[in-house]
Amino acid sequence: CGIVGYIGKRDAAPLLLSGLKRLEYRGYDSAGIAVLNGALSVVKQKGSVADLENALRESGDKLSGAVAGIAHTRWATHGDPSDRNAHPHLNTTGDIALIHNGIIENHTALRLELSSHGYAFRSATDTEVLVHLIDRIWKEEPALMLEDAVRQALHHVEGAYGLCVISSREPGTLIVARKGSPLVIGIGDGEYFVASDAAPIVEHTRKVVYLGDGEMARITADGYMVKTVENIETEKLITELDFELEEIEKGGYEHFMLKEIFEQPGVMEDVMRGRVRLESGSLHLGGINDNLEQLRKARRIIICACGTSWHAGLIGEYLIEEFARIPVEVDYASEFRYRNPVITPEDVVIVISQSGETADTLAALREAKEKGALVMGICNVVGSTIARETHCGMYTHAGPEIGVASTKAFTAQVIVLYMVALALSQGRTLSDSEIALYLRELSEVPSKVSEILKSSEEIHAIAGSYRNARNFLYLGRGYNFPVALEGALKLKEISYIHAEGYPAAEMKHGPIALIDEDMPVIFIATRDSTYTKILSNIEEVRSRKGRVIAIASEGDEDIRSLADHVIYIPAASAPVTPLLTVIPLQLLAYHIATLRGCNVDRPRNLAKSVTVE
Ligand code: G6P
Repeated sequence: CGIVGYIGKRDAAPLLLSGLKRLEYRGYDSAGIAVLNGALSVVKQKGSVADLENALRESGDKLSGAVAGIAHTRWATHGDPSDRNAHPHLNTTGDIALIHNGIIENHTALRLELSSHGYAFRSATDTEVLVHLIDRIWKEEPALMLEDAVRQALHHVEGAYGLCVISSREPGTLIVARKGSPLVIGIGDGEYFVASDAAPIVEHTRKVVYLGDGEMARITADGYMVKTVENIETEKLITELDFELEEIEKGGYEHFMLKEIFEQPGVMEDVMRGRVRLESGSLHLGGINDNLEQLRKARRIIICACGTSWHAGLIGEYLIEEFARIPVEVDYASEFRYRNPVITPEDVVIVISQSGETADTLAALREAKEKGALVMGICNVVGSTIARETHCGMYTHAGPEIGVASTKAFTAQVIVLYMVALALSQGRTLSDSEIALYLRELSEVPSKVSEILKSSEEIHAIAGSYRNARNFLYLGRGYNFPVALEGALKLKEISYIHAEGYPAAEMKHGPIALIDEDMPVIFIATRDSTYTKILSNIEEVRSRKGRVIAIASEGDEDIRSLADHVIYIPAASAPVTPLLTVIPLQLLAYHIATLRGCNVDRPRNLAKSVTVE
């Protein structure tokens, strides 16, 4: 899941380890490192980077003094998390080491073929076939450079990879290649870094080159050369990284997730900066400006995403249909791409992804492009693959999100969708004064969020009463239905409590059977057109002894008599409500999870960026 590589003059092992720590936020289950100090030395095992560091210390100086090396954090896909399945993987003679993100789809066939040539496998991973394949090609033609042996091996491979190879047979070289899984090269002074994202690089250099799909690079301490897998030289642009390292550190909060929840008012301002012009009541969306006419003419809009981004997409559906009156469908990216979806050039597909690297979302994007639709992206990570491959798009500008459970990226996505929905309405379904009014309501959201954040302690107290619950039900209607889904997802992701989100009215068609005195039910019951209906739903739960936590509009005293706990949010119009109601749900999940002693920033089994399908 995380790749780091180094070649230069400095001691490689400590640099690689600190690089791995910067990638820990992505989620992983094992870690490993290989360096070249004469021979190849490797340490790899199940567990954390801190465990790996201890193991290195115990192994004495085995890894010191190397000037090149590779390191990896693994998130199991093929083969369980274990020492032998951890990367790097080595060939039988132990002189080639390789780390890999992605999935080799034809690994079974390759494994059979290599086995028939006497290759013995030591792991259950798809990655190991790659290193034996390189070995075999190189043994057959020993005059090849490592780069060419890797290139030839890749011609036999189907699937996705971001990989990094070193060999004691050619000690001064680091080979990297990419298809599907991201790779960045950091350019230092007489030294080079490689990583699966910029986080491990930024403390050493701000100059980076993003490797494109189907590209590989040969890196030495003196320079690098990028070519395609087909051996055609490519000119690469050097990009200057513009985020600060502090941004990816905790900034005084106990967890990244809490920091990111509290950052939201500022992030929301950033998302709107330069785009919402209150004085003129107008919008300036640079990233889609040239495509606005085509977007407005869309016969249909299809939104594709995964996880939390999919929930933002659902809110986008409500917003675009209400403001712009264009029919919208929201699809899980993974379902969309395998269904042979009906898409025409009159359709617009919007893909939403915090990381910009989610494999399913990327595949949906490519499918939609192939079928001739205009594809717009909403991404957080600048320069990410999805951002680069879409026809047009908008960045959320939420800054690096480190907590695996998405919070600030979600609210930023919703704000972008709100702005897009208004831009689509301009000159069509809404008057300029209506747009100005909606923009004003949006601009008031950050200060309302700051108000809600003040109830963190109160929510902590509520969390204390429910920390041992085994199940939770989240109910909402209209704009708050996707928020119910998102609230339930946050809780299950970080506290491991089973939780379900439902449209409140659907409760009577199933979940009501689950309600008893042990079932806490969260009602998002703000004062809007469905308010009285939701009160009846609360009564239905109460009469079955369910315990009710209500998220309600400030000043609503009536609800106190119905709910066990009430968390108030400032009054707001329905379309901006999700940006407010989700905040107490993020805090509730956070506090319950920390009270249960869970690792909220790195929940088990989850990864920040899922680059496998
Ligand atoms: C993973 C993360 C989720 C995220 C989803 C989509 O499952 O754990 O938090 O919502 O991927 O990620 P994306 O980067 O495409 O928004």
